[in-house]
Amino acid sequence: MNLNKTPLHVAIIMDGNGRWAKKRNLPRIFGHKAGMNAVEKIVPYAAKKGIKYLSLFAFSTENWLRPKEEVEGLMEILSEFIDKEFNKIMENNIKIVVSGRLEQIPEIPRTKLLNLMEKSEKNRGMVLNLALSYGGRSEIVDAVNKIIKSDIKEVQEDSFVKYLYNPEIPDVDLLIRTSGEMRISNFMLWRLAYAELYFTDVLWPDFNEEEFDKALNDYANRSRRFGMTDEQIERGDI
Ligand code: FPP
Repeated sequence: MNLNKTPLHVAIIMDGNGRWAKKRNLPRIFGHKAGMNAVEKIVPYAAKKGIKYLSLFAFSTENWLRPKEEVEGLMEILSEFIDKEFNKIMENNIKIVVSGRLEQIPEIPRTKLLNLMEKSEKNRGMVLNLALSYGGRSEIVDAVNKIIKSDIKEVQEDSFVKYLYNPEIPDVDLLIRTSGEMRISNFMLWRLAYAELYFTDVLWPDFNEEEFDKALNDYANRSRRFGMTDEQIERGDI
């Protein structure tokens, strides 16, 4: 339970790349490229602001259903991102982890990702959690299947968490979704249980440091109660 004014874990649904491109009469993939540029700005900025965990919804289990050239384009952008950002990630002491069915990612970006995860494993700055081929329900189903295959007969909430992807990642404190849509879209279902939700009309490629600050300021003014009363929280009865 995080009661600090700075969120420990921020998760972002980076929505609106397609609409950003459409407004400019460009193919959708240009929107995703511009989206990658926004990621390159927000990642070091989040680390600078003291965020310990940043989860980005980069590709969902449902995104495989998009046209083949868009899926291929997104996978190329992922490879390009890793090549371009590798040194900066290491310099900024950022640790990369992936949540999702990594085995479904094509070989070239998968190999690059595995290398980046290995090389950045000992970094102790921000953890950047890339959700790839990720679905919140798949994460829970994958956890249940791991439990079925083990000799565990019963789980509690805290023991169940150990079977989720990257179990060391805490609950989400702040969820940001861009582009005016107000949905969770199967993102981090378990860890969003008590998250503060922040929606903005800004399309993801236009999201920048200033917009991130707006979300953090909004979060700092929320009163989080985790099902308790304000008085209990003020007294510290937790
Ligand atoms: C949603 O916009 C966005 C995606 C499906 C992909 C997000 C990917 C990036 C931001 C590219 C780079 C990411 C990394 C981590 C390198 P949309 O296409 O659904 O937009 P629309 O709703 O306007 O059509």
